[in-house]
Amino acid sequence: PATLAVWALAGYLLGSIPFGLLLTRLMGAVDPRGIGSGNIGATNVLRTGNKLAALLTLLLDGAKGAVAVLLARWLAGDDAAQVAALAAFIGHCYPVWLRFTGGKGVASFLGIMLALFWPVGLLCCATWLAAVAMSRISSLGALVAATLSTGWMLLFGQIEMTALALAMTLLIFWRHRTNIVRLRAGTEPKVGRKA
Ligand code: G3P
Repeated sequence: PATLAVWALAGYLLGSIPFGLLLTRLMGAVDPRGIGSGNIGATNVLRTGNKLAALLTLLLDGAKGAVAVLLARWLAGDDAAQVAALAAFIGHCYPVWLRFTGGKGVASFLGIMLALFWPVGLLCCATWLAAVAMSRISSLGALVAATLSTGWMLLFGQIEMTALALAMTLLIFWRHRTNIVRLRAGTEPKVGRKA
């Protein structure tokens, strides 16, 4: 239990690194919190007009989740990896450094899934990409990919990770609640439109 608590903390701290903010500051782009959806994720960083910052935000927010899982598994085993996964995800959504106002979890979720169980991780990435490509709406792709992730974990017989996927999916829906209102109203902006 002590080891798991350490990995919960380590995962949380890794997940709480706000790459969207750090990169926009470093690269001289505007603060994403003041534009568009106000989110610090890659989709909203893209609305600053800085494509490279958006791409790097996507990759690094994904990588921090993956690193948390891989490090925990390597040093302490599968249980620690699952604890670190959830903790990193929560860290991204509720970082202590930003008064617990973080991102919506999508990039971190993809990185975490790839590291937890790569076949489902790949399916999540492919679904997200395909749904965004088809709809041009980032949040819709995220909601579709997250929803399917639970079913895929179940299909692959990964019972514990099914619960983990479900927990992350519920939190992704919660973090996208204003997006869901806009999706229902037909006012959710297309990806890449500058704010
Ligand atoms: O990654 C978050 C994405 O699903 C939605 O972002 O800025 O359109 O709320 P945003």
